[in-house]
Amino acid sequence: MTSASSDLIASLFSTLLSEAKKVYDATPAMQGFAKWPTDLTYHHQAPVWIPAIRQLTLWENNHPLHKATQSILPYGKWKQTYTEQEVGYGFLQDYGYIELFGPDGHFRSDQVRGYVGYWGKGLYYPWHHHEAEEIYTVISGSGYFEAEGKAPVTLTSGQCQIHESNQPHALTMKESAILTLVLWGGAGMAGLPKMGTIS
Ligand SMILES: [Fe+2]
Repeated sequence: MTSASSDLIASLFSTLLSEAKKVYDATPAMQGFAKWPTDLTYHHQAPVWIPAIRQLTLWENNHPLHKATQSILPYGKWKQTYTEQEVGYGFLQDYGYIELFGPDGHFRSDQVRGYVGYWGKGLYYPWHHHEAEEIYTVISGSGYFEAEGKAPVTLTSGQCQIHESNQPHALTMKESAILTLVLWGGAGMAGLPKMGTIS
């Protein structure tokens, strides 16, 4: 475990939050999707480690939010929504996310949920859906985004994809790993994604 002080950890998360806000401020599609939460309060979360911390540690990129994410890797409450039965062993070795803000976030909010999510190169994130509306903004790397009723598109740093409530979507990391900033809003904000295309 870490020997870093709780003050240092809190300051690293503050930096992460402010870098996420800078991405939000530079991205009109995110501003149109949801207001930045006004009820954020920092909560210390016990870290949860995932295998992908190793790949994220080694992935060099100069985007300030990428670097701020790297600085909290050992202190993040890393999550994986899916089971090995759903996505396979390999997927769980190379994927994960933190809830930066939200009902169970490093910063608590009941207004909107914000995640930083990672998927490794070569992964296929199968078709899934959820009640919450969602916007992805790519921080670093790239991904091939598919959504029912939309033309597939490869997105790189700064580019966005919106998914409507219960609109099935999938993601393939063809060229690179991907790091994303994701907002969830609307009904179902506190729910979880489900595999498959039928809601
Ligand atoms: Fe999604």
